[in-house]
Amino acid sequence: MKAATQELLDLLNDTKKQLEHLRVLGVEGVRAVTLNEPVTSHTAEVSSSLFGDLAPAPVALTPSTETFEQIHCEIGDCTRCPLHQERTHVVHTEGNRKARLMFVGEAPGADEDAQARPFVGRAGQLLTKIIEAIGLKREEVLIGNVNRCRPPGNRAPTAEEASMCKPFLLREIAVVQPEVIVVLGNTAMKNLLDTREGITRLRGRFQDYKGIKVMPTFHPAYLLRDPSKKRETWEDLKKVRDYLDSHKQ
Ligand code: URA
Ligand code: URA
Repeated sequence: MKAATQELLDLLNDTKKQLEHLRVLGVEGVRAVTLNEPVTSHTAEVSSSLFGDLAPAPVALTPSTETFEQIHCEIGDCTRCPLHQERTHVVHTEGNRKARLMFVGEAPGADEDAQARPFVGRAGQLLTKIIEAIGLKREEVLIGNVNRCRPPGNRAPTAEEASMCKPFLLREIAVVQPEVIVVLGNTAMKNLLDTREGITRLRGRFQDYKGIKVMPTFHPAYLLRDPSKKRETWEDLKKVRDYLDSHKQ
């Protein structure tokens, strides 16, 4: 066996011992399965079961008792990132604060900036139709953006701008705890899920954010430019509708 492999196995065995300590101490999220069996070099199958073991336990969302008013008040007349310089209004998340379904876009455009409401321009009107196509009303869902200020010329927010604004969205998500989040387009998806994968690869497949199902799909502005992509978006939204229908209490 190669030295590096042995080193890796030793490291893994040590880690397992430490995990066993944590489990004995009652630390949540550490699973007991096979912790007592030392790792051997039946590499292929062992390492797959092993990595299964050591995969981080999924982090659950910590429910929050904040209100949107508190969060929006804290955002205030925000100057945390450069996008504040050319905005007219900070555009907050709107809709049903008991929603089972949330839509997350990238950032406000000109209409949203003028009206201080998310998704009210052409892309927003298409989003409203998409929501209605799965049997819901716009008022029944929650609608927000990763960034709350309009980028100059509608450029995509940078990763840094997104990282300044996203914590407020995550706090709203912890308040509402929607069952499904539909994330719209490449930029919103990358920023919400911290992934490098592109929308074309991930769309249509449920992803996870702290136990919440996340469905990436195309941005409605993209559908306006290429209506042939509406069919795929419809497939993605049907999966969301079916999930919600089969988890009704
Ligand atoms: N595009 C977005 O990503 N968000 C909006 O609110 C409007 C257009
Ligand atoms: N690129 C994007 O940014 N969004 C889409 O929805 C599709 C391609």
